[in-house]
Amino acid sequence: MTQASPQILITGATGQLGRLVIEQLAKKVDPSQIIAGVRNPEKAGDLADLGVTVRRFDYDQPDTLDSSLEGVDRLLLISSSEVGQRTPQHKNVIDAALRAKVALLAYTSILHADTNPMQLAAEHKETEGYLQKSGVPYVILRNGWYTENYTANIPMALDHGALVGAAEGGRISAAARSDYAEAAVAVLTSAEQQVGRVYELAGDVAFTLSELAADVSRQSGRPFQYQNLEEADYAGVLVSLGLPEGFAAVLANSDVEASRGALFDDGHQLSRLIGHQTTPFQEMVSRVLGQ
Ligand SMILES: NC(=O)c1ccc[n+]([C@@H]2O[C@H](COP(=O)([O-])OP(=O)(O)OC[C@H]3O[C@@H](n4cnc5c(N)ncnc54)[C@H](OP(=O)(O)O)[C@@H]3O)[C@@H](O)[C@H]2O)c1
Repeated sequence: MTQASPQILITGATGQLGRLVIEQLAKKVDPSQIIAGVRNPEKAGDLADLGVTVRRFDYDQPDTLDSSLEGVDRLLLISSSEVGQRTPQHKNVIDAALRAKVALLAYTSILHADTNPMQLAAEHKETEGYLQKSGVPYVILRNGWYTENYTANIPMALDHGALVGAAEGGRISAAARSDYAEAAVAVLTSAEQQVGRVYELAGDVAFTLSELAADVSRQSGRPFQYQNLEEADYAGVLVSLGLPEGFAAVLANSDVEASRGALFDDGHQLSRLIGHQTTPFQEMVSRVLGQ
């Protein structure tokens, strides 16, 4: 049942996307309606300062999830960051949401999850399938790539003069994390019926990694270009930067699939949902260069 002042719980609230969702949600509804679901409450002091309720919410502790979901009407399940563990973790949350009779569960999936060939998409596909059969009223937010996946590495890459990857000339319809957070808030607070909808969310203007590198060079005034590597070589670079081998391979696979268009979308559903253009990559570059 939809209530006039629904209680809205955001999982992964101490994560980067979760924090943005809480901050933006607090501008739209009274903080007394917001519950920050966190694995580690010690990390959530700044969220409590916003006046929201902080509640323990651990995907790996199914026995605790009934009390975590007490009184919750709308739930944003932010996909876990523990790649390889995600399907059972998400199933725990969906099972608990069914028991709690949550009126709407919004799940952050991956762009074109049903057809996306990236290895990273498998757990999202499994979660979507489970959710769709679960009996929980759901809406799926198929998030494209965060522009920050690239821009966060720019300061370090600038010192080496090159951005490396394996995405060749693939066009990537990325958007800022804050754009995706805004979309989640729009759906969670919408007066329209959201149950059963599937949103393909992506940036308005797609770019190649060469175009991104050229803009970094333009804005920084320093020589900088994109250097494409073979999949195995790129995975090797990621391992040398400290990533575990398995995860490095998954990310290198993502790049190769991006070269074939797996992260491209021109449906503009994200900008329609949030009511404005998505953040241009040039602005993200400017921010990270401190300009
Ligand atoms: N679209 C993209 O480009 C992209 C890129 C990277 C990741 N993702 C996906 O989108 C999600 C959100 O992105 P993000 O940037 O916010 O990632 P993030 O900063 O790594 O946040 C992930 C959140 O998941 C929480 N979490 C992990 N395991 C959990 C568990 N067992 N129980 C409860 N919470 C758990 C983490 O809790 P702690 O705060 O306690 O660590 C954290 O709050 C990621 O988790 C990942 O599935 C998408």
